[in-house]
Amino acid sequence: MEELKKKISFIVNGEQVSLEVDIRTSLLEVLRNELHLTGVKQGCGVGECGACTVLIDGEPIDSCIYLAVWADGKHITTIEGLAKNGKLSKVQEAYVDEGAIQCGFCTPGLVLTTTALVEKGEHLTDEEIKREISGHFCRCTGYQKIFAAVKKVLENK
Ligand code: FES
Ligand code: FES
Repeated sequence: MEELKKKISFIVNGEQVSLEVDIRTSLLEVLRNELHLTGVKQGCGVGECGACTVLIDGEPIDSCIYLAVWADGKHITTIEGLAKNGKLSKVQEAYVDEGAIQCGFCTPGLVLTTTALVEKGEHLTDEEIKREISGHFCRCTGYQKIFAAVKKVLENK
């Protein structure tokens, strides 16, 4: 039978990690179940809701449909990696300031997508902001405040 295990290494939130994974395992499962990074949320599990978003080499990716083996050699950022020395990132602060958090289930993914936009230094129109965050579903439907938080942090850059 073909070998179903593979050893992989990647950097997550600045720390080198090496582990053996089943080649069929998603990155979401490895982050939550093996590395206990439970800020990464599982919603739909099929790449539709954005709850499982992490940054891979700076790009927002749905980790539920991304195999763990594809992350070999890459840099991953989860929500746990944003605050430094107990201080929230600018993006996290903007979400708090704008009251853009209700149950919080969609928040890690949205904050990471927003972080990627800030790091790219893009100047976006309102329509472009909406398009950029359209891959995230908020079941509490707090979209106006989420939009305000993204706009605030992009404009204050
Ligand atoms: S859980 Fe990955 S996109 Fe919904
Ligand atoms: S704050 Fe509850 S799903 Fe968005």
